[in-house]
Amino acid sequence: MTERLILGQVISYAADPFRAPPEEAARHERHGAVLIRDGRIAEVGPADRLRAAAPQAEVTDYGAALISAGFVDAHAHYPQTAIIASWGKRLIDWLNLYTFPEEMRFDDPAYAATIAERYFDLVLAHGTTTTASFCTIHPASVEAYFGAASRRGLRVVGGKTCMDRDTAPEGLRDTAQASYDQSKALLERWHGRDRMHYAITPRFSPTSTPEQLDALGALWAEHPDCPMQTHLSEQTDEVAWAGSLYPSARDYLDTYETHGLLGPGGLYGHSIWLTEREKARLAEVDAAVVHCPTSNTFIGSGLFDIGLTGSLRVGLATDTGGGSSFSMLRTMAAAYEIGQLRGTAIHPAQLWWLATAGSARALRLDDRIGNLVAGNEADLVVIDLASTLAIAQRADNAQDFWGLLFPTIMMGDDRAVRDVWIAGTPLRGAGTVAGG
Ligand code: GUN
Ligand code: ZN
Repeated sequence: MTERLILGQVISYAADPFRAPPEEAARHERHGAVLIRDGRIAEVGPADRLRAAAPQAEVTDYGAALISAGFVDAHAHYPQTAIIASWGKRLIDWLNLYTFPEEMRFDDPAYAATIAERYFDLVLAHGTTTTASFCTIHPASVEAYFGAASRRGLRVVGGKTCMDRDTAPEGLRDTAQASYDQSKALLERWHGRDRMHYAITPRFSPTSTPEQLDALGALWAEHPDCPMQTHLSEQTDEVAWAGSLYPSARDYLDTYETHGLLGPGGLYGHSIWLTEREKARLAEVDAAVVHCPTSNTFIGSGLFDIGLTGSLRVGLATDTGGGSSFSMLRTMAAAYEIGQLRGTAIHPAQLWWLATAGSARALRLDDRIGNLVAGNEADLVVIDLASTLAIAQRADNAQDFWGLLFPTIMMGDDRAVRDVWIAGTPLRGAGTVAGG
């Protein structure tokens, strides 16, 4: 039995801070500890008590740094790593000009492997321990993603992105039957292996024929324990386009619903321009929507309604590379700014929850990751709350813990990430490290 005790400030959640007063839902321990046994969290509590309770444990002391559940990025496109921050286009032109040509390169398994490794290097450097990523239409892109993640011991979600309509370029299209067959084979190979979750992944209605959506709906019905990830109502032009391609659909969500692609376990990225019917249906089936704030401002999509947290599972995500950052800190900052533009000041406890427990809940992995509670897997991030001069001098003026945390949320980046633990093993420091 391996026992490890890590010391620092600790943040965890006893409740959803959108449904309880945020400062009561969150738990903060100034001199806290996380006891890890065989890769799982055994206990979280005051350092003194846990030191006495586990005298044999190997101790790592992070001093005043903050120990949290690792960040969970609920919607990303790892194949877009190399085209992040591409200038000047809105969604449909951005896909055609930058995204699709880059995704074509993934027919080369060696290129896919290179980008998958680079992607996990980047997200881990930013403190993200779980990603839910679209791959490309190429099965090799899925192999590269799950292969890299499983070698690193990560819990991840991913799937082959399916497109069979002539709205997608030649070279980046499959067929309804091929998408079913390849998704099924990849699902059988990867879902439940190590810490992998296969997500059935139609890119979005405009690049699929109704036959492909039917085929993937049938596959989901055969494997209802798999998540299903796609895009919904990101830009007004896209909503109109979906409507013109599916003229009998009541609305965008209906293009999925009619083909068996609405249900619990459904993850609908963006979900900005929803009608009242769509919101009600998503809530009725207990589906999840994913807020991608840096993408929504970067591509010019719109301002997500954070009020949806009242009725829906809501995850937070970078949407790499439509999003402009790999950092969930930067993503929280953008979520805060969008909240302000819509008249809601999102509390730091709520922002942090969205990036950890909220995203885990959206992915239906909250019984394993996203929160520092006994029984969960020990995927952690350790955050330096004074990582730059600008942050440190502002943090010096903090009145309380939330005032200390907020400057890192607003101004922090990968320099704030002191360490990352995967299933109870630190990536950088091992054993006793100096407090700071
Ligand atoms: N809608 C369909 N595909 C994509 C994509 O790759 N990125 C974003 N942001 N939206 C999409
Ligand atoms: Zn996306």
